[in-house]
Amino acid sequence: MADAAAKKVTAPGIRAMKGSGERIVALTAYDFMTAKLVDEAGADVILVGDSAAMVVLGYDSTLPVTVDEMVMLTGAVARAKPRALVVGDMPFMSYQAEVADAVRTAGRFVKDGGASAVKLEGGVKVVDRVRAIVDAGIPVMGHIGLTPQSVHEFGGYRVQGKSDDARARLLEDARALDEAGCFSLVLEAMPSGLGAEITDAVTMPTIGIGAGAACDGQVLVINDILGYTTGRAARFVRSYGDARSLVLDAARRFAADVRSGSYPNDDESY
Ligand code: KIV
Repeated sequence: MADAAAKKVTAPGIRAMKGSGERIVALTAYDFMTAKLVDEAGADVILVGDSAAMVVLGYDSTLPVTVDEMVMLTGAVARAKPRALVVGDMPFMSYQAEVADAVRTAGRFVKDGGASAVKLEGGVKVVDRVRAIVDAGIPVMGHIGLTPQSVHEFGGYRVQGKSDDARARLLEDARALDEAGCFSLVLEAMPSGLGAEITDAVTMPTIGIGAGAACDGQVLVINDILGYTTGRAARFVRSYGDARSLVLDAARRFAADVRSGSYPNDDESY
C-alpha cells in the first residue's frame, strides 16, 4: 500500500492485507496538516485516537474526552482527504452503556466527522456493539490488551496477558471480535508470543502497539514518533525526530529576535 498513486484505502482493503506479506502502517493524527503529511508518507491507516485527550487536549487520561471533541478532530483529519483510511476512536462511555449509543456514536463519526471506520476498546463484552455497528454499515477496528479506557480496572497502564488465564481471555476476546466482523484489531502492550498467537488465530489483521513483530501491522502515536512527548516513554515507542527541540529552538529564537528588535526587519515590513 506504500504506492502513493494507489487508490483510497478502504476497510476491506486493510482486511485483505492479512497474509499478503505487506505490513499495515498506521499512525495517529489529530489535525489537518499532520494528516496530510502522514498520508504523504504512505501510511495505510490514520487513527484519530482518543490519545488526543492527553497529547492534544491535556487531560490526564483518555477518559474525559467527549464525542464532540473527537468528532471535531476527526473532521479536521478527514478534510485532509487522505488516501489512508481514517478511523475515528470512540471515547469512553460513548458505547459502553447501550448498544444503541454505540451505533449512534459510530454514526456521528461517519456523518459529522467524515471517518470511514471507527475503533472501540474491549473484547467479548463489546461484541454486541461491534455487530450492531457493522450491521449499520460502519467498519469496526477492535482494540484489546492494554485498553486505556479501562485504566482504573487494570490499576494502571500495565502490560496485559501475562498469566495463563489472562492470555486465554485475550485469545477468546480476539476470536469473538473476529466473528463479530471487525476488519482489524489493535493489540496493545502484551507479550510478543501472545501477539503472535492472536495474529495466527484470527482472520482479520492485527495491528500491534507493544505486541511484538508478528502482528500484521504496527501503530504508534504521532507525538511519540516525532519526539514531542515529555516524560518516560513506553518501551515500544521508537522516536524518529526531536520535535520538542525544534519547537523550543524556533520559539526561543523568535522571542530573542522580538526582544532584541531584530524582528521584523525592513523586508518583513510593509
Ligand atoms: O488512542 C490511540 O491513539 C490508540 C492507539 C495508540 C492504538 O488507541
